[in-house]
Amino acid sequence: MLKESMPRMERLRFSSALLILLALVSLDLTSWAWTVPDCIIADSSLFPNLSYYIPFCTLNPGLRLLASCSNVKDLAQTLERVPLDTEVLCLQGTVPTLQDNAFGHFPSLKLLRLQLGTLNITSKAFEGLDHLQHLFFEHHAPCCLSLLLPPNVLEPLRFLSSLSFQGYCLNYSQSIYLPVSLRHLTLRHSCLIQLQELQRVFPNLAPGPSLTPTTRSWVPFLEVLDLSYNLQLNQAGARALQGLKLHSLILDGTPLSTLDVLHSGVLHLDFLSLEGKGIEKLPENVTGYFDLHALDLGRNQIQNIEKGDLPSHSSLEFLSLHDNNLQSIPITFLSALPQLQSLNLSVNKLGLTLALPEGLISTNLRVLDLSHNQLCALPSGAFSFLPHLQELWLSGNNISSLSSDSLQGLRWLKTLDLNWNQIKVLKPGWLSPLPALTSLNLLGTYLESISGKQLQGPQRLSHLQLGSLTMLDIYPPWPPTLLSLEIQVTVSVQFTVLSGEPFLFLENLTLQANWLILKPDNTTFHFPSLRCLTLRGLSLFFQPQRFFPQQLPLLEQFSFWCDNDEAVDLHLFEMPRLRVLELGDLNFFYESSTTKLETLLKEVPQLQVLALSHMNLRNLSRASLRGLSHLRLLLLSSERALELDSSLEEFIPQMPQYVYFSDATFICQCESSWVEPWATQVPNSFVYGLEKSVCMANTSDYSKTLLFTFFSQHCPRDPELWAFLSSFTLVLLLMTLALLGCHRWPWLHQLYTFFYACWWKICGRGFRGQFHYDVFISCCEPDQAWVLEELVPALENPPPEGQGLRLCLPVRDFVVGQDRMDALVSSMGSSRATLCVLTGQALASPWCNLELRLATYYLIARPGTTRLLLLFLEPIDRQKLHSYHRLSRWLQKEDYFDLSQGKVAWDTFCEQLRRCLRKAGQERED
Ligand SMILES: *[C@@H]1O[C@H](CO)[C@@H](O)[C@H](O)[C@H]1NC(C)=O
Ligand SMILES: *[C@@H]1O[C@H](CO)[C@@H](O)[C@H](O)[C@H]1NC(C)=O
Ligand SMILES: *[C@@H]1O[C@H](CO)[C@@H](O)[C@H](O)[C@H]1NC(C)=O
Ligand SMILES: *[C@@H]1O[C@H](CO)[C@@H](O)[C@H](O)[C@H]1NC(C)=O
Ligand SMILES: *[C@@H]1O[C@H](CO)[C@@H](O)[C@H](O)[C@H]1NC(C)=O
Ligand SMILES: *[C@@H]1O[C@H](CO)[C@@H](O)[C@H](O)[C@H]1NC(C)=O
Ligand SMILES: *[C@@H]1O[C@H](CO)[C@@H](O)[C@H](O)[C@H]1NC(C)=O
Repeated sequence: MLKESMPRMERLRFSSALLILLALVSLDLTSWAWTVPDCIIADSSLFPNLSYYIPFCTLNPGLRLLASCSNVKDLAQTLERVPLDTEVLCLQGTVPTLQDNAFGHFPSLKLLRLQLGTLNITSKAFEGLDHLQHLFFEHHAPCCLSLLLPPNVLEPLRFLSSLSFQGYCLNYSQSIYLPVSLRHLTLRHSCLIQLQELQRVFPNLAPGPSLTPTTRSWVPFLEVLDLSYNLQLNQAGARALQGLKLHSLILDGTPLSTLDVLHSGVLHLDFLSLEGKGIEKLPENVTGYFDLHALDLGRNQIQNIEKGDLPSHSSLEFLSLHDNNLQSIPITFLSALPQLQSLNLSVNKLGLTLALPEGLISTNLRVLDLSHNQLCALPSGAFSFLPHLQELWLSGNNISSLSSDSLQGLRWLKTLDLNWNQIKVLKPGWLSPLPALTSLNLLGTYLESISGKQLQGPQRLSHLQLGSLTMLDIYPPWPPTLLSLEIQVTVSVQFTVLSGEPFLFLENLTLQANWLILKPDNTTFHFPSLRCLTLRGLSLFFQPQRFFPQQLPLLEQFSFWCDNDEAVDLHLFEMPRLRVLELGDLNFFYESSTTKLETLLKEVPQLQVLALSHMNLRNLSRASLRGLSHLRLLLLSSERALELDSSLEEFIPQMPQYVYFSDATFICQCESSWVEPWATQVPNSFVYGLEKSVCMANTSDYSKTLLFTFFSQHCPRDPELWAFLSSFTLVLLLMTLALLGCHRWPWLHQLYTFFYACWWKICGRGFRGQFHYDVFISCCEPDQAWVLEELVPALENPPPEGQGLRLCLPVRDFVVGQDRMDALVSSMGSSRATLCVLTGQALASPWCNLELRLATYYLIARPGTTRLLLLFLEPIDRQKLHSYHRLSRWLQKEDYFDLSQGKVAWDTFCEQLRRCLRKAGQERED
């Protein structure tokens, strides 16, 4: 009987709270949401690195709230639970049809990315998306699916700026009108055969060959047209894009010839991308025809450039020839391209015979990329003819030694990238010709030591990357202007530190090494400006506090990844401003580890993001998170046998809004069963990754039981928790309404009153003036004799013998045959106070416990109108009470009566009880 009626009641209660919430949601007052299976809801402003955990969604800068759902089958069902103020929505799954107004509830949507397989789209599918800026349809191999778009489907999208189709054929769609706000149109991996098809599909793309009245008023809007990887696109058809004025045309991987482009009718073009088309020769005429400013010929097969090919390209400012097997370039190259500002020659074979063009000085070249060219040495004065060069990229070559000769003349050079060469020697003063250098990259060298003296020359070196494949000794003095420093050493790095403050302005520090040694070993670093600290790969016994013992007053992000299975005793020093803490591979469970999460987190009160990975955490309890009142995102990944302590149940209202579990397994135990209602029901909190998590009975259990399946099969559902959650929902709701119900919106106040009244009508059962009883007495069978003989007469008899109270006793007052549960709920609801008589036996009885829980529920759900009184008949450890912690928050001292001392306190008890009831009565009248 109990088992059946309890869930029914709870369902009723919960669904009514839910109803009200849904009503609210439709009023757009605020956003409420529950965790959605297969969906991840995120606030991308919290953690820029979030995209790592959300592989198939785009994080556009400036867009905040994101929802990404996979395995979508029933779109309406999925969307029901996505927050309404979502700005980015990514959906992956199989949905055959997009119905009218499919996203109408999401007026703030700015980016929509659909990977939904074969799609039929109704003409009003995008109705209401007034703010949508980006719309992507994607299907990944095999090419291609057919997509049917009705002609006016894009009409409502007045602010659409980019539209992309990948892996879809549009050849059944036609006459789709593009919004004039559109700047970027992509049709990649599609099955275009002729350019003309574009005119049929998008009639207002270009003014077209014939000037009809409609096209006469045509104004150009599109800037970028991307048709890459249309593997069958081989016919342009004369004047297919007649009159189109574009900024960029991207034809990578298409068989279309450059001649076709010339004859397509495009009037204006700045940038043409022709990557991966098997081109063997610099294309003729196309640059001259359009007066192109930029041409990308990457990943082709241009091995040689003839002198005669060049003049027609004289308008180019940007040219990329990366990955072409180029072996040489003509001496006159740069003089033939006088406007050239950026030349990308990476991934070629120029190094074999590096004879950089000489002679005429090129005054315009700003960026030169010669990385991955098998260069062994830089000839003396190699770049002296490029006085205005600002960026020189030389990574991935075989350069072994550098001297000032080779860098002569680069007076304005700002960026020098020498990563991943074979550098063993840096000659003294090698940087002296580079006074303007701000960024120097020296990762992946064979240097064994480097001294600050070798970095002298540049006046404002601010970004430095240093690395060695062995070990690196670093000697002072440091360039005083450093803002960002990255050191990557395979084995060990040894710093010799001068006294004083060598890193006054440093904001970002990244250190990756197995060992970190300081000399002398009693010195420490001073980083008064540090904002972002990343430590990776450090092994055994590394103790950051040895290196940074003082405050890091401005530190906002700290990322610490170890590289071993041994434990690390990590202690955080004072970081009053820390917002983001990322810890990985620290093995907290190791026996000798004295560090516990809670001690660690004490020092970082402002924390907003906590990401823990592979920590062997084992247990997450309330104590660990206590005090982190600003925590908004908790990310746990690669944790095994994790136990979500039942103390966290208490903490639900303060849990971070976003909690993600990624690749975590749990212990199968009913103590954690609170997790399910929390993850699936609590408003405004987004828990990801539990539906698919497995749990294990012990560490050698590999049966892969799903966590939620375990709960539903083995753990009795805790009605109190559900009740608690629904009351929590309600409290939140009422709070919101009360806040909103201020004078500025008087109608909201009425609404509030209305809902408040409704709620009580539905759930409150006897809200005002309907207290049939003064006291409902809950007790257990063994205590019944005492209650009937002693307590009842003392309370019920008319004064002066007793207190003259109206009592309700289940054993006496419940009608035989009545559903005990229903009776319990209704009489408890219509009593001014509930008095629980508690003994050790009572606490052991499930029925008594249930009564206590119900009473707790009323107490929390109806603060101020009902009272819960606890009468202890024998000494009981109060911590043993099921929801002691919760109770202690709601109960006052006067709500406990202790009669375990015998009859001595009887009179006091009666007096106290009377006072309490009087108070309850008064509050009720208010
Ligand atoms: C993002 O985080 C993951 C794991 O936390 C890490 O492996 C990855 O390197 C990070 N990526 C960036 C770009 O920081
Ligand atoms: C899509 O629309 C076409 C044409 O209206 C129809 O033939 C086809 O059955 C539809 N497909 C689905 C999956 O609804
Ligand atoms: C659409 O494109 C596909 C793939 O190229 C092709 O097989 C099909 O015949 C085309 N249909 C029409 C109507 O052009
Ligand atoms: C390229 O232009 C030159 C003259 O500007 C012309 O003689 C030649 O035929 C053109 N080549 C092509 C393929 O159009
Ligand atoms: C050169 O091109 C490659 C390939 O597109 C690119 O990764 C690299 O960043 C470019 N170099 C510069 C300096 O832009
Ligand atoms: C430091 O790192 C952050 C985050 O990666 C970056 O946004 C910022 O520009 C960097 N600051 C400097 C001075 O490099
Ligand atoms: C470090 O130790 C040296 C000698 O061992 C001592 O002279 C120096 O004062 C110490 N420095 C600090 C900061 O304790």
